Amino acid sequence: MSIEEMATAKGPSQVIFQQLYAQNNRTFNQMTLDRAKKAGSNAIVWTVDAPADGAWVYGARFTLPPRTDTAIFTWDFFNELRNMTDLPIILKGITSVEDAKIAVSMGADAIVLSNHGARHLDGAPSPLAVALAIHDQAPEIFTQTEVLADCGVRYGTDVLKFLALGVKAVGLGRSFMYANIYGTSGVERAIDILKREIFLDAVNLGVDDIHKLNSSYLDLDYLRRHLWDMGP
Ligand SMILES: Cc1cc2nc3c(=O)[nH]c(=O)nc-3n(C[C@H](O)[C@H](O)[C@H](O)COP(=O)(O)O)c2cc1C
Repeated sequence: MSIEEMATAKGPSQVIFQQLYAQNNRTFNQMTLDRAKKAGSNAIVWTVDAPADGAWVYGARFTLPPRTDTAIFTWDFFNELRNMTDLPIILKGITSVEDAKIAVSMGADAIVLSNHGARHLDGAPSPLAVALAIHDQAPEIFTQTEVLADCGVRYGTDVLKFLALGVKAVGLGRSFMYANIYGTSGVERAIDILKREIFLDAVNLGVDDIHKLNSSYLDLDYLRRHLWDMGP
């Protein structure tokens, strides 16, 4: 069952994903996958863009405790995890068209275009730029698997840009983290604000149903110039 079907069947707020930081320790991975299944998770989100601590040059002042493990992620590693659970596995942290293509060929249930909130590896491309590259170079990916994205989504127009390129859904990190200062009601308020922005922005764009959004609503050349710095 696709994530969209799951969300439709159960209601979006009832779909639970368990994030996994896989380690070299197979027993740890199996334990985490089993606990997630037992706790009622509907899918595993395997974060593939952080096999080690970030260098955290800017965050050094926070003196976070260092992680003790460093893993090497390969497609064989993905196959191994695949055989350890029957839950769908979503690959979070895809940053290139090439990896998106391989993820499809390896049967990833969904992918998340993400650079970890631009906080893990300096120079990692923005997910909007990656979504644009997929749109330009391998648009079939958007129908071959479910493509989700996060990072830098702040306003309704950020959401509409992703959807117009073919992304199915977006995620928010820090917006919810800050809203959570006010607890559940803060997070609900953040959702309400963003929903209203999406509605107003879509109407102002001339779109009466966001399912009808497509890349003709975007100035693609402008985005190519500004996201990838291609051409004058
Ligand atoms: C404080 C903090 C902790 C995070 N921890 C994780 C994590 O444990 N696993 C993970 O996959 N991503 C983690 N992320 C990245 C988020 O899942 C997400 O990709 C990112 O925050 C999205 O960008 P945004 O904050 O601009 O919305 C973290 C982000 C922040 C800000």
